[in-house]
Parts: sequence; C-alpha cells; structure tokens
Amino acid sequence: MGVITLPNRVHRTHTHLVACCFALALLGLWCARSLLAEVWTLAALPLIWWNNADQFLISARVDDFDITFANYSIHQVSAAPLDDRIPPVIHHVAMGAGAADHTNRWKDVRQSCIDMHPEWEAYLWTDETADTFVANYYPELYAMWRGYRYPIQKIDALRYMVLYHYGGVILDMDLQCKRALGPLRRFDFVAPAAHPTGFSVGFMMASKKNEFVGALVRDLQRYNKHWLWLPYPTVMFSTGCHYASMIHAYQRNRSELKILAGTGDNFKLHSLNGRVSTPIFDHLGSSSWHSYDAAMIVKLGKSKSWRTPVLLVAGVGIAFFVMKKTRRRRLRV
Ligand SMILES: *[C@@H]1O[C@H](CO)[C@@H](O)[C@H](O)[C@H]1NC(C)=O
Ligand SMILES: *[C@@H]1O[C@H](CO)[C@@H](O)[C@H](O)[C@H]1NC(C)=O
Repeated sequence: MGVITLPNRVHRTHTHLVACCFALALLGLWCARSLLAEVWTLAALPLIWWNNADQFLISARVDDFDITFANYSIHQVSAAPLDDRIPPVIHHVAMGAGAADHTNRWKDVRQSCIDMHPEWEAYLWTDETADTFVANYYPELYAMWRGYRYPIQKIDALRYMVLYHYGGVILDMDLQCKRALGPLRRFDFVAPAAHPTGFSVGFMMASKKNEFVGALVRDLQRYNKHWLWLPYPTVMFSTGCHYASMIHAYQRNRSELKILAGTGDNFKLHSLNGRVSTPIFDHLGSSSWHSYDAAMIVKLGKSKSWRTPVLLVAGVGIAFFVMKKTRRRRLRV
C-alpha cells in the first residue's frame, strides 16, 4: 500500500492548511469552553442585574421600609408586628490557615453583633465543625468542597450551605454591628448591594430552606471551574459575589430576594466595600474578603501559574501530532 500522489500538490497543501486551522480553532474553542462561558457570565451580569430592580431593592414605596433605619430602635430584634421569616441565628465563619489569628483579632467585633441580639443562637464555623456539617448534610458536595483550591471558596460555599440549612444571618468577622437586624427579618432574603453590580456575600440574611439559597448551593458544582488557573476570577465565578449575584439575576421572580441599597446619589449607603460605616455596620476590615483571603489566594495561586502556558503549548503540540497521524492514515489506500 502506498501513499496516493494527488495531482495537485498546491491544492492539497491548501486543504491541509485550512483543515489544520479549522481543527485548531475548534480545539481552541473546546479548550476555552469554560473560559468562554465565564466570559459570558462576566459580561452578562451588568446587563441583566438591574432588570426589575425596583422590585428587589428595598424601598419605602414598595416595602414601606426605612432604609436609613432611623425610624427603628437600634435594639429591635424582631420584625414584629410583621412576621419574622428569618430565624434568630447568627453565623460567623473562621476557616483556613489564618483562622485562629483571624478569630482572635475580630473577637470583640464579632461579639458586638452577638450582644446586639440577646437570646439569638450564635455559631462560629471552624474547619472541624464545617467539615462535619458538610459531610453530614451535603455528602454529594463534600468531595468538591474539600477539593476547592482556595480557602475562600470553601468559606463562601459553606456560607450558602449553612444559610440554606439553618437560615439566619451570615456575617463577616470584621463587621461591627451598630444596631439589631430585627427590622429586616420580615423579608425572605436580604443582602447589601455591591458596586457597580450585584451584592456582597459578607452579610446575608435568609429564611430556612430558602429556594434561592438552595440554588446557590445546587449550582456550586456547575460553576466549579478554573479561570485559566487565575485565583481571582476563579473565586469570583465559582463561589464569590459574582457567582451569587449571577444566580440572583437569573431567578424568575426576584421580588422576594431583597437587596439593601441607598437611593440616588447615596446609592452606596449600605455598601460594604472598603472601610465604611453604614446605618447597620462599621466595616473594620479593609474589604470583606480582599484582606483576609487575598493573601492566601495570592500565595496559593502563584504555585499554579506555570501550568497555563505549559498546558497550552502541550495541547497545541498534541493537536498537531494527532492531526498529522490521521491525515497520513486517510491518505493511505
Ligand atoms: C419614618 O418616620 C417619619 C416620622 O415619623 C415618617 O414621616 C416617615 O414616613 C417614616 N419613614 C418610613 C420609611 O417609614
Ligand atoms: C413575583 O412574586 C410576587 C410575590 O411573591 C408577586 O406579587 C409578583 O407579581 C411576582 N412577579 C411576577 C413578574 O411574577
């Protein structure tokens, strides 16, 4: 069996080239499919986030709520006379390498929130208790949860699981409470608006087994991808604020998924970016997760960064090799 000599060498080379380019393009798209999906995620959120915002932004007009909180006693721990939909539970999470230092540093700040809510339950989730909790209640997510590359992903995912299972309030350790959260307990879900889109996950309140929080837990697996092995996008899209805001934006009816924000020029009234004082909190850390976790992320991320170029080169090399082989085989009679 010999190789067929095609009459037109130029034509053959040309066909080769086009086929190679096409295959490479396909391969490129295939390799980048999660990247593309996430680019789309990133791009779409600012476009869709504000749809029906007048329904989910807490307001005097729709909810008869005073977003300045000036009308409420700072000791109001219940929404009474309205129903309390959010159970009286406060969760803090201190996990990962710096957890002990972190807990110690913010001990008084955390206590300020507990003191503001006498008789509420208070949980401090540690590596041990979180591990047991996830293993018991989310066995199907346990392996994924354990395998998260960055500690902050474990923390974020745990926030959603804990909030779904128990309901209540999730607070970052560096949030000092200026008043009780009672007035907000009339809602099913509350989180503060972030800038420029979405919401922050450093403070969330939810009813037990809240459907939206359930979606946050359920979709963890689907979005558990790596953004070219870059830490920041990986965290934001797999478990962080961007992820949670995305899921919020895609809920069919967002009118019960309340976002706490100011109005007009004062839109950032409740924003927890940076060291700020809002009507509810003094945010004493520099930023909710950028401070405590960014150091860890950067540290962990560095060791992986060689992989991207190496894998890309290897992928292209393999693609060429495979295509050459198949070409040869096809040309044989
Ligand atoms: C707050 O209280 C003032 C005076 O009592 C009242 O005029 C105003 O409507 C209240 N605002 C809200 C949002 O309840
Ligand atoms: C969304 O739900 C609320 C009550 O939960 C309801 O009043 C409203 O009409 C719903 N909106 C749409 C568009 O279905």
